[in-house]
Formats: sequence, C-alpha cells, structure tokens
Amino acid sequence: TMDSQPETTARRHQRIIMFPVPFQGHINPMFQLANLLYSKGFSITILHTNFNAPKTSNYPHFTFKSILDNGHENERFSQSSLADFAQNFLFKQDAAEAFRDELELLLASVQDEQVSCLITDALWHFTQSVADSLNLPRLVLRTGSLYSTIVYSSIPLLDDRGYFKLDDSHLEEQVSEFPLLKVKDVKKIGIKSSKDPLAQLLGDMMKQIKASSGIIWNSFKELEETELERVPDDFPIPRFLITFPKYFTASSSSLLEQDQTIFPWLDQQPTKSVVYISFGSLSQVEEKEFLEIAHGLVYSKQTFLWVVRPEFVKGSTWVELLPDGFPGERGRVVEWAPQQEVLAHEATGAFWTHSGWNSTLESVCEGVPMICSSVLADQALNARYMSDVSRVAVYLENGLQREEIASAIRRIMVDEEGKEIRERARVLKQIADVSAMKGGSSNKSMESLIDYISSL
Ligand code: UDX
Repeated sequence: TMDSQPETTARRHQRIIMFPVPFQGHINPMFQLANLLYSKGFSITILHTNFNAPKTSNYPHFTFKSILDNGHENERFSQSSLADFAQNFLFKQDAAEAFRDELELLLASVQDEQVSCLITDALWHFTQSVADSLNLPRLVLRTGSLYSTIVYSSIPLLDDRGYFKLDDSHLEEQVSEFPLLKVKDVKKIGIKSSKDPLAQLLGDMMKQIKASSGIIWNSFKELEETELERVPDDFPIPRFLITFPKYFTASSSSLLEQDQTIFPWLDQQPTKSVVYISFGSLSQVEEKEFLEIAHGLVYSKQTFLWVVRPEFVKGSTWVELLPDGFPGERGRVVEWAPQQEVLAHEATGAFWTHSGWNSTLESVCEGVPMICSSVLADQALNARYMSDVSRVAVYLENGLQREEIASAIRRIMVDEEGKEIRERARVLKQIADVSAMKGGSSNKSMESLIDYISSL
C-alpha cells in the first residue's frame, strides 16, 4: 500500500469485525471492502454462517469465525435452503441473542488489539442493538445503490399513497414522488403492503441504518450526484461512497467455481464483438422466458457468452430445454463465469444483465454498455437509473420476447442508434477511473472512512 510503514503497523492492532449476509451479491462487496481495509492496515475478522460459507483459503490474511447456524455443514446454493435461511435469520429477532453471545466471546478473546468497529450488511438490522449493548460502534454496508436506498426509505410513503395496490392498468404511469420511476418499477420491488415481511425487513433495515455510526455504499459520487442531494434529513450519519470494483475484483469470493476455459475463446474474438449475459446468483426464469432468451440471442446474430446458472430455469437442472444445435458456432454457454474479468476483456461489447447492483457497477467500471432486465427487489430501480439517468443502457422493461431482445442487443452492439450509449459508457468508465485515483471522490471517501474508523 501507499501507507507509511509505521502507520500500517500501528493499525494492524486495530481489528474490524465484518459480518456479510451470505448471498453472493452481498458476500462480494463485503469481501472487497475487507480487502480494502486490510490493505490500509487493519486486521480483519469475518463472521460467517456455514450456509454459503466463504472460501477461507482465498483469504489467509483474515481471521474467520463461523456463527449462528453451526451444525448445517456447507449447504451450497439451493433455493429452498436460501428461503429457510432468510426465515431463520433475517426475519427473526432471537438471532440477536445468539449473535450477542458470539460477539462477547470474540471480544474477550482478542488480546493486544483494539476492536475498532463492527461492519455488517445493512440487512442485519438486529446487530445494532447488540453492538450498542457492547459499546461497539457499528457501520453498515448497503450493497445496493444510493438511489435504491432512498426509494426503499420511502416505502411507507409509497404504500400510504396506494402505489403497491394499483392494478395493471396503471403500470405505465409515473410515480410523482420519484418522477424517474413508473408504477411497474416500484411494484417490482415485490411488496404488497408495508405489513409484508419484506417491507418489515426493509423498514427495520432503514431504522437501524439511521441508528448506526455510518453507512458505506458501493458506488461513487459522480454516478449518483443528484441522489446525494436527496438523502433524507433523517439520515444524519457519516456517509461513504466507494467504488469497490476499482480496487478489488469480486471474483475471489465466488461461491461457485468460475469457468476459466472461456478466456482462450474470448481472446480469439474481435474487439467488442461478444455479448455477455448473466442474471446473477439468485434470479430465476420460467421455461418460456428461457427459450425466448435463447431465440433472441440467435435472432440478434451476435456472438455471445451466456451464463446459465444451475437452477436458473424453474423446474430444470441446467440447459436441457435448449433446442438441438444451440448455441452453435456463435455462442458459448457456461455455468458460472469470472464476471468482472469477462467485462474487462476487450472482446466484450455489451452486458445483458438482470441489473443486480454489483453487476451494474462492475459493468460501469469496465465501460461496458448494458441491456437491462429486472426480476425483483432493486433491479428495476437500477435498470431505470442506468437507462434514463446515466443513459448507458437499454431497458428491456416489457419482459422477455425474442424480437425485442434481438433488437435491443443489435442496438447496443452495432446500430447507429446505440452509438451514443456506447460512447457514454466509455466516458463513464473514465469518470469512475478518475474517481478512484488520488484526489478523486471515491478515493477521498475511502481515506475519510479510514480516518473515521481509526478515530472510533
Ligand atoms: C443481489 C441483488 O440483485 C443486488 O441488487 C443486491 O444489492 C445484492 O444481492 P445478485 O442478484 O446475485 O445479488 O446480483 P449482483 O448484485 O449483480 O451480484 C452478482 C455477483 O456475482 C457479481 O459480483 C458478479 O460479478 C458475480 N458473478 C455473476 C460471477 O462471479 N459469475 C457469474 O457468472 C455471474
């Protein structure tokens, strides 16, 4: 690191305890942040569940401690255990007691060191009261965008105004509180009323963010400038916006094995000639949608690299539904890819994404224009933002139909119409680069986070 030696050594006696939510899209940014803090001299302890446990061998420099679900050994991704997990831990208050016991033991066992703070995923709302009771400052990592956080904080208001109950004849109408959004975007969050378990969870998350000692977003000021001015007044805590993918790749914390055999193939493809397609770690599609995607890819006449995760198609194990002869000469289908490295490859010309925030930001950081789909949660908000504010994407907002898919891909890849989008994506990457350099906004935010934690 660029730190002077004495400073780094002094900090090595300052330990940070980090607690990610065990889903891929939450683990990745927490580990990127952990790497960043380690590189600045802090010692790192990662608390994790056995469910989706991290590959500790990739991080010999961290200390690991498994907590909460001791007993179920290494359950890997499967939709049902995921649901069980959420039921058991995210929606239950009594996890707080178990967490408190673990943390107390841990604090007692730390010798010759000072524990500076706890950093948890914002969804672990119950950790705030535990941290308070132990007099330990808690910072939160919010793995979504600043924009989606602001929209989420307005869920009670949107519910009061009846948006979640509007019927399908209103889907195209604008939401007056968020002029950027259509009714269908907020309905896609997946909430029917503020009494829903999900709404309660997000409400608790917001409340305990406000009670925390600070919030960290994986983003950068220039990307969400207008949103920064809209952060509600009842968010009086220190805020940090740091572009993690500019410092560390998300690939080292992948739970699934990433197919490395694609690189010799990518190396043979012309510059910006390949469409990369992935819908993240959780999203699923129906059989019919799956086939529309496959046909859309063929219709587009572009070369493609398609990540079809096992269990991506509801009711199927993998790709058994694909037509004979697919993907043919033009394409490759893999189970899981080293995504950030694929996006950084010069053969990659576009990214068709489900608009998870990590994927979105990785694409922005590599200057790759996007075709955005959305399935649930914050994805429609991200897609809308990329297409209408940053204007580096085409939003496939009316579902998955082969003709529309093919035309969106052609627009982003080859058509004159898409030229400005491609150019803006290139420029936005440069802005992200500058932001992460000395004196840039992301870098300054990181320095102030380091100073802040050191002062706790
Ligand atoms: C989800 C939400 O969609 C996201 O908005 C939220 O903030 C976190 O949880 P997920 O749906 O998995 O996550 O998508 P995303 O946020 O894009 O994260 C996926 C991660 O997996 C990315 O870091 C991506 O690089 C990685 N990935 C994806 C791979 O390593 N290989 C792949 O083939 C596909």
